[in-house]
Amino acid sequence: MYKKEYVSIEEAMRIGKGKVALRGWVYRERGSSKVKFIVLRDSTDIIQCVFERKKFEKQWGEIDKLQIEASVKISGTIKKDKRAPTNFEIDVDEIEIVGTSENFPINKYQSEEFLLDVRNLAIRSRKLSASLKIRSTVMGALHEYIRSLGYTEVEAPSFSGETSEGGSEVFKFNYFGKTAHLTQSWQFYAENLVSAFEKVYAMAPSFRAEKSKTSRHLTEFWHFEVEAAWADMEEIITVAEGCVQNVIKNVLIKNKKELETLKLNKNRLEKIEIPFPRITYRKAIEKLSEEGYNIKYGDDFGAKEEKRLAEYFNNFVIVTNYPLEILKFYHGEDPKNPGLGMNFNILAPGIGEVIDGSQREPDLNKIIERLKKAKINLGKSDWYLDSRRYGSVPHAGFGLGVERLVQWICNLDNIKNAIPFPRTMTRLTP
Ligand code: 4AD
Ligand code: MG
Repeated sequence: MYKKEYVSIEEAMRIGKGKVALRGWVYRERGSSKVKFIVLRDSTDIIQCVFERKKFEKQWGEIDKLQIEASVKISGTIKKDKRAPTNFEIDVDEIEIVGTSENFPINKYQSEEFLLDVRNLAIRSRKLSASLKIRSTVMGALHEYIRSLGYTEVEAPSFSGETSEGGSEVFKFNYFGKTAHLTQSWQFYAENLVSAFEKVYAMAPSFRAEKSKTSRHLTEFWHFEVEAAWADMEEIITVAEGCVQNVIKNVLIKNKKELETLKLNKNRLEKIEIPFPRITYRKAIEKLSEEGYNIKYGDDFGAKEEKRLAEYFNNFVIVTNYPLEILKFYHGEDPKNPGLGMNFNILAPGIGEVIDGSQREPDLNKIIERLKKAKINLGKSDWYLDSRRYGSVPHAGFGLGVERLVQWICNLDNIKNAIPFPRTMTRLTP
């Protein structure tokens, strides 16, 4: 017996010869009365393992009964074998069955809905876990990049006595006899925080009671939000572009294997360059109506229109200067174009809006006027305006939907596969 130092499957294949010890789960199994083939899976890869009956007379009964997803420890000799699924094979000397498995409910041919019902098990799939590894890179890269620009991470609560973005898309619940709301955005806090930290960011879940069952809406999504004192729209757009570019760069370096598992073309990522092309809201409306889209000045874009806009440029595209009537009260007004906002949306090809940002309105009286016009009473959120009452400064910020960016990078049909356990109108478990 040799001392067992467990290595990952990836590491074992790098070593490529000699004795190795591995731990993992049965990914596939087949066999005859003389030999059993098990493809073993761990978090890094899969590898074929061969059991010859003559070496395992005592354990054969157990080995023969091994079911998909049973957990095992094995040791044996690794060698190259072109016929094996990952070009390596292990001739097993020893096996310890750690956990047997019941009949695994997932097979090759199952509906998306069923896979969501058993998401806790489906998450073991190589494709889903590849997307989620990319998601982890995206998260890490956003933190890393924004910190490198001198931003401080400052958190805010997830529930509150009042709403931030307002509208009907807010979840309410009973909080010791009072009504509380799940946060839709960190922005109200951010605009106050800039007076203490100047450059701030947060990575947190946002909650939207969206009734829309679309391929790009979740009721809980991870929101990367950034806010900077003294910044104008140009500066914050540059930060947003840098975030996207850095994320893509990191995925290309760190997720070669996952991109392969997902059969994704690296080119699609490599060719994204900053600065992104820009179009004003007015021009975008003109272009779309010329093409026969049923949209006029003053309408907001739907998913269809946003996708088309990004398609024109075959790139991420920045749409700027929406009319104030369709913007929230906090977006600043463009002094050169009264009636238009100093705001932008960044759209991703095939998805649409991924980032929403603006230069904020710093003037207390103007903001109060806008609130009146929109018939909004801030109520308990009146503290938000303190940012304008006590040393207001120009500032700008944006929010990026992490799942939408992951959805684009991984080319996923549905946003649900960009988050481990999606929450939608109809899904609260697992
Ligand atoms: O456009 P939104 O609603 O903007 C805000 O919340 C601002 N307060 C952000 C800010 O300036 N700090 O949301 C920002 C982004 C969207 O562009 C989109 O990517 C994502 O959040 N998002 C969603 N992602 C998944 N499911 C949903 N229901 C989403 N709603 C918004
Ligand atoms: Mg938006």
